[in-house]
Amino acid sequence: MFDLEKVMFMNSHLIHSFADLHGIKQDGGPTVITSAEGAYVRNSEGEKLLDGIGGLWCVNIGHGRKEIIEAISKQLYELDYYSTFYNLTHPLAAELAQKITDLAPAHLTHVYFANSWSVANDSAVRILHHYFNRISKPKKKKILSRIGAYHGSTHLAIAMTTPAYREGWDSAEDLVHHLSSPLTYRRPDGMSEDEFCDFLIEEMKTTIEDIGAENIACFIAEPIMGAGGVIVPPKGYHQRAESVMRDYEIKTISDEVVTAFCRLGSFFASEEVFGIKPDMITVAKGLTSGYQPMSATLISEEIYDVISAPGDYFLHGMTYSGHPACAAAALANIALMEKEGLPQHVQHMGKIFENTIRGLGDLDIVGDVRGSHFMIGIEFVADKSSKKVFAGEIMIGKRVARAAQARGLVVRPLGHMAVLSPPLILSEEQVNDIGAILRDSILEVQQNL
Ligand SMILES: Cc1ncc(COP(=O)(O)O)c(C=O)c1O
Repeated sequence: MFDLEKVMFMNSHLIHSFADLHGIKQDGGPTVITSAEGAYVRNSEGEKLLDGIGGLWCVNIGHGRKEIIEAISKQLYELDYYSTFYNLTHPLAAELAQKITDLAPAHLTHVYFANSWSVANDSAVRILHHYFNRISKPKKKKILSRIGAYHGSTHLAIAMTTPAYREGWDSAEDLVHHLSSPLTYRRPDGMSEDEFCDFLIEEMKTTIEDIGAENIACFIAEPIMGAGGVIVPPKGYHQRAESVMRDYEIKTISDEVVTAFCRLGSFFASEEVFGIKPDMITVAKGLTSGYQPMSATLISEEIYDVISAPGDYFLHGMTYSGHPACAAAALANIALMEKEGLPQHVQHMGKIFENTIRGLGDLDIVGDVRGSHFMIGIEFVADKSSKKVFAGEIMIGKRVARAAQARGLVVRPLGHMAVLSPPLILSEEQVNDIGAILRDSILEVQQNL
């Protein structure tokens, strides 16, 4: 048993991620999660909570899977660590590289491993910058991203992330240009979805002409934006964006940190769900279902051929790239997903989940429910017809999250939204529980406003 007071005391030395460090102290301290199993976690009060956020969009296969835990420990007994620097490798890094490239779109034939998604995105850009140096286009360095994007928190990844995530913090801003958010719900009044898509694509082209395609390396985009507010672009957007980028010889990076590994019902969403063939895909979270920290940057054959040409040297490396325990976790996780038919389960149950949450759209303060399968956001509004947002001090997202937690469900407050990304193994009964808890919670918040 743990001693809660002792944990709180020790925790005062811990710096939380994306947190109000001062506010945590005032707020009665952090929430302590102590154990987890299946779709549930337990907190320090001993309460069992449905994990509506899958840890942090990552515990796709569910908590406490012995098959993964045993695979990690078996691997550690056999080979605790070795690097993939220079000409070194080990069997599981090799096996995972083969497995991921088998699952990925066929043109993505090589993979670089790291330990966080931020680093996977950094790696993608570093590799592309080098690629353009090698093909004698050294000016092609700038990055096109979008308002609302979240690509991580290293110096470069946060620069590609929407500016709202780094107010008051420095970043490599001169390297990145942010295009408009493809948030259909908040498109200009009187514009149809198709016209909104035309507007976004037109903006893309004029921006490229202004900056000069000879200065732009890549366009990075999440198929569905996650942390920026579960933003699904208008129909046809990704395919049209890809075709614009091809015309201007700008490489595309699909940040599939959330959408890959079955969250939308397939191992990779770019090609299967959105019909695009990006030059690179970055993945993490669901790759190991969060059991070990691991990310992957998948690269097309064409890019790999350039960076592996005679006389070149790959000057990029991480001590833990392809770590044996992480590779073991990923392989065991993927094996479970395949054995248990997780993509098929999500195609069926994820749709039931999506429709259940969409059913909350009749509530007064629910302005928009968006997303797909097990990746859903609920946007709250003070007035449905004008889509007026709540004043920040009302903390509408937090209020709903607190009300839900008091009823046994963890949801993620995100400004004026509540976000759901549960483990993908949910049963229909659990899906219904989530729907019922959310309805009661939103009604309670609504009544007390
Ligand atoms: C779309 C996306 N990209 C990148 C990241 C950064 O990943 P990490 O926190 O592992 O660095 C995240 C994290 O939530 C994400 O959602």
